[in-house]
Amino acid sequence: MPARDNVRIAPADGKLGVLIPGIGAVSTTFIAGVEAVKRGLAAPIGSLTQLATVRLGKRNEGRTPPIKEFVPLAGLEDLEFGGWDIYEDSAYEAARNAAVLDAALLEKVREPLEKLQPMKAVFDQEYVRRLHGVNVKEGRTKMDKAEMLMDDIRQFQERTGVSRSIMIWCGSTEVFHRPSEVHQTLKDFECGLQKNDPEIAPSQIYAYAALKMGIPYANGAPNLTTDTPALQELARANNVPICGKDFKTGQTFMKTLLAPGFKARMLGISGWFSTNILGNRDGEVLEDPGSFKSKEETKLSVLDQILQPQLYPQLYGQLYHAVRINYYPPRGDSKEGWDNIDIFGWLGYPMQIKIDFLCRDSILAAPLVLDLVLFLDLAQRAGMRGIQEWLSFYFKAPMHAPDIYPEHDLFIQLMKLKNTLRWMRGEDLITHLGLEYYD
Ligand SMILES: NC(=O)c1ccc[n+]([C@@H]2O[C@H](COP(=O)([O-])OP(=O)(O)OC[C@H]3O[C@@H](n4cnc5c(N)ncnc54)[C@H](O)[C@@H]3O)[C@@H](O)[C@H]2O)c1
Repeated sequence: MPARDNVRIAPADGKLGVLIPGIGAVSTTFIAGVEAVKRGLAAPIGSLTQLATVRLGKRNEGRTPPIKEFVPLAGLEDLEFGGWDIYEDSAYEAARNAAVLDAALLEKVREPLEKLQPMKAVFDQEYVRRLHGVNVKEGRTKMDKAEMLMDDIRQFQERTGVSRSIMIWCGSTEVFHRPSEVHQTLKDFECGLQKNDPEIAPSQIYAYAALKMGIPYANGAPNLTTDTPALQELARANNVPICGKDFKTGQTFMKTLLAPGFKARMLGISGWFSTNILGNRDGEVLEDPGSFKSKEETKLSVLDQILQPQLYPQLYGQLYHAVRINYYPPRGDSKEGWDNIDIFGWLGYPMQIKIDFLCRDSILAAPLVLDLVLFLDLAQRAGMRGIQEWLSFYFKAPMHAPDIYPEHDLFIQLMKLKNTLRWMRGEDLITHLGLEYYD
């Protein structure tokens, strides 16, 4: 008997607008990649929405449809891109400067990238100290700037004829701030926008504009945005899904693979030292101690949550965990991340593990952007609102309800994601109990 859907999912009719604050390395690698895949020039490696399957029912039923056939997702040819940046470079020029993709590949997708001219950004030097751009909006108040962003979005929607939109922050990492009074309620926040409250960051103005217009918002950077009561209130009131924060790509991805393994085997860890060199603009911004602090917080939180030292003081109570990032221009986007892990086993005997990950930051991030765009749109069409915990899979610091801890284990995150898709379509959730095979 066919399963009955648990929720009504509106069809993915029409085009989907992808609005991106930050036309830099990650976003141009994502957009150029989509254009390359559409033309059959390359494959969307790393993307679940494009490549992964989902097992349905029992292991002997042989039902494993691709995710993109199991749930109705927007197609790549339906995506229309728009964005903002403090620099005037088109997406083509920004991609050339970022130097992630080969010049030969970029030439083949030059036309659509050249058409993407960034709109004037909402920017505040206090929040990103190392960058200076001229493509910036002038406005009396932060509320005026939010209204200007909403005008930009309306014009984009009219120009492209999209039927739905989502926004994903691929802008620089802003300086670390804790939530303050102005973030407590929507009323406080709107009052703060009118009064130019210095605690309201540019990223929050973009998020406000999106949520006001019913547009889902994802945060790819570690700074404070929709992880505030005020913006969550707005998301719930307007029935908009949100998720974040900080794409889980290189070193943290490795951490969330390894740490659950050590813990599963009850192996102790006394130290984990992580250091990185990278030479892209992101690296330059992260040289500023304020921006680095935002990154450090999300990178450090992972191990504590996975290892639960309060439950296992003998194994993880003394763990020394440090994360460093250094800007090193010769490497560009090709980051090198080293991890030295001091572990101990039976009777406390010490061992060491060294990891040297020569990765490409934006190549790892681009498929995550694609999946988040398509899944957030799906969530909205399925009537889901507020924090989308099932998208934790993509983030270093997954947003979560205030009374629970976030789930960092990559495989639990994957199970949660796929179970959410099964739940949407009324299929049995997979528990991995499996006793029935041996009755
Ligand atoms: N690449 C990865 O693996 C990865 C992983 C996790 C998080 N991130 C985060 O994703 C973000 C983008 O990374 P990237 O490598 O593309 O950086 P990038 O420096 O190449 O691009 C960011 C762009 O944002 C622009 N910008 C800054 N403030 C803005 C504002 N207020 N409005 C509009 N544009 C603004 C900058 O001018 C820049 O062009 C960074 O915050 C980074 O920390 C990247």
